[in-house]
Amino acid sequence: MAPKIAIIGGTGVYNPDILSDVQEMIVENVYGKAKMAKGTYQGKEIIFLARHGATHSLPPHLINYRANIRALKEMGVERVLATAAVGSLNETMAPGSFVLVDQFLDFTKNRISTFFDGGEQGVTHTDMTNPYCPQLIKVLAQEGQNLPITVHQGGTYVTAEGPRFETPAEIRMFKMLGGDVVGMTSVPEVVLAREAGLCYATIGMVTNFAAGISPTELSHQEVLDVMSENSANLSKLLMKTVENMPEERTCKCGIAS
Ligand code: HPA
Repeated sequence: MAPKIAIIGGTGVYNPDILSDVQEMIVENVYGKAKMAKGTYQGKEIIFLARHGATHSLPPHLINYRANIRALKEMGVERVLATAAVGSLNETMAPGSFVLVDQFLDFTKNRISTFFDGGEQGVTHTDMTNPYCPQLIKVLAQEGQNLPITVHQGGTYVTAEGPRFETPAEIRMFKMLGGDVVGMTSVPEVVLAREAGLCYATIGMVTNFAAGISPTELSHQEVLDVMSENSANLSKLLMKTVENMPEERTCKCGIAS
């Protein structure tokens, strides 16, 4: 059987609209409860999880990332396609484009970012050379070529703690350090996925130029407006990627840690 796929919807992506026979469920594990939906697309079972809850009630720093990733793992998921609204620090990555990020910089402050807490599990240091799955990125990039928007292959995602937006000084620093886009959720989600041996990719949907680069002040509404303009492109990319994903995992994500 082909590896099971989950979609984690970020800001502006709350409904599993590409799925049919959708069934909502709450899955509980040692880290807490995870709310998700199960459905099918072209005969394949797909799990959908709205990261911020169905009504955007959970801010980035309060999401129970460990409960979510552990729940996906326990449900037999092996591949995760995540979406994330991001601001851009890179003039070539304009609002309306997608970025298939391949690296991250971690500027979070108050989050639990590991499954490995010592004790019985021992001390484990997971390799992060390829935090985002190269095979998933390749398929997303191929399918992205058929969209009427620009899809950038590769980019560094800076995870800020939030929930506030950044200051222009922070954005200047992130840019100097090599960041391309900024958001508030990729860490610890990608880290936990790697630790759990899941393939994980993020479609960064650029909604704005970041603070100080944008000529105007930022608002959450602006982010939502650009997301909704691009939701058809996102659905198309997800559908085609699920459709054309090779059965075999050719990456090393499954043998992590
Ligand atoms: N900063 C942080 N997160 C974001 C942004 C931003 O500019 N845009 C969308 N999510």
